[in-house]
Amino acid sequence: MSLFGRLAATLAGAMVAVLVLGAALGYWKARDEVEAELGAARGVAVNAVTRLIAALPASSNVSADIASLVSTFNGDRHVRILMIDAFGQVRMQSALAEPGTRAPAFLERLLAPAQDTTILPMSPRAAPIVAAMVVVMPANEIAEIWSGLALDLALLLLFALITAGLGLLVVDRALRPLGALSSAFHRIGSGDTRTRVPVSGTPEVARLARGVNAMAERLEGLARDRQRLAEQLSRLADEERAELARDLHDDVGPFLFAVDVDAASVKRLVEAGGEPAEIVERTEAIRQAAGHARLQVRRILGQLRPGILPGLGLVETLDHLVEAARSRHPAIDFALQVDDCDPGPVVEALIVRAVREGVNNALRHGRPRHVTIRVAETADAVTFRVTDDGGGFQRPEGERSGYGLLGMRERVEGLGGRFSVAEVGLPAGVSLFGELPRTTDRAREAAE
Ligand SMILES: Nc1ncnc2c1ncn2[C@@H]1O[C@H](COP(=O)(O)OP(=O)(O)OP(=O)(O)O)[C@@H](O)[C@H]1O
Ligand SMILES: [Mg+2]
Repeated sequence: MSLFGRLAATLAGAMVAVLVLGAALGYWKARDEVEAELGAARGVAVNAVTRLIAALPASSNVSADIASLVSTFNGDRHVRILMIDAFGQVRMQSALAEPGTRAPAFLERLLAPAQDTTILPMSPRAAPIVAAMVVVMPANEIAEIWSGLALDLALLLLFALITAGLGLLVVDRALRPLGALSSAFHRIGSGDTRTRVPVSGTPEVARLARGVNAMAERLEGLARDRQRLAEQLSRLADEERAELARDLHDDVGPFLFAVDVDAASVKRLVEAGGEPAEIVERTEAIRQAAGHARLQVRRILGQLRPGILPGLGLVETLDHLVEAARSRHPAIDFALQVDDCDPGPVVEALIVRAVREGVNNALRHGRPRHVTIRVAETADAVTFRVTDDGGGFQRPEGERSGYGLLGMRERVEGLGGRFSVAEVGLPAGVSLFGELPRTTDRAREAAE
């Protein structure tokens, strides 16, 4: 059931309960009132008749006294006096005041007093009247109570209806924006992250709307980042292919050419019966060229597979990486310390990539004198840290471009790890830190 429906049902239930309770309390009070009022009226009438009976023996005009007593009760609201003869016939009776409006019959039945008739024997002087009858008639009292009770109940009902109506109106208005919010959630969930909802309604709903808008903005930003990352990756792949072609052409091609030339000259020398020393020299040149070509191929392979070099472990690969950086930047002091750990191929490859990104960033964006690389092992994780003293960030975070760190964070967090990049001081520089679980299920899945 909707919230509105529940509220309406609850209010209706409360209203019925209040009315039933009000009616029950009113009934108990009315019973007491009827009992007290009619008891008092009966008492007055019985007293009057008793006094008359006592006075009759000395009366000079018995029938006039009886008629006078009966007439004093004419118009009484609760009691009627009847004078009865020996045959049970009514000889004289007072007239009851007729009630203006009558209470419902069920109420008259419910509130009627237990005893309604009192019979008093008359003195023989009253003959032919033998008895006086005092009859209490509750209709007037009950009608009076009914009109008060009906008014009370009507006021109670009116109050309950107005309260419930206003309550439902307020809730209905407060809940109306929830429709817009739920359809916004639906649209955002199906990918339309540009969806926004108007911030209106009660403070609670407005807060919710602001939260939805902030979430949509964040999702939109993430989708934009992902798009840019994908574009960057595809551009990088193109660039890498072009660079590979250049490397093969410039660094491997000349050695193959030299091998070709030297091999041809060896053939010529052998055919012409040349000096063995010269043949040996040419053969040595071929060996050297082939060796250089192998080194270049290995270097290119290292770039193509940024992870572990084929046949090498984590320590050797990082050694190789640092050695290459040292040879290009002899003025910089590179310090490498790696625990001999075996966190599995996926984590190892990621550490190598991260260290390469950290070292490249230090060289590209700063002017470091020292770069330290530390890979350490804890009980259930492997951590890596690359720290430089190149001067720190040159631009505030929002203005930095590039995707190296962003991609690295995604990779590390994708394997269930933590990644952070922060500025360090004295001397100023940047420290890149990551922590990876030694072998996670996700890493194993990724490796398969
Ligand atoms: N060691 C560092 N010293 C100074 N600034 C740094 C350092 N590392 C990162 N930065 C700053 O942070 C930015 C983001 O680095 P990030 O590696 O993500 O991108 P990039 O190196 O510019 O490009 P690429 O996508 O090729 O890695 C850099 O552009 C640079 O301004
Ligand atoms: Mg970078």
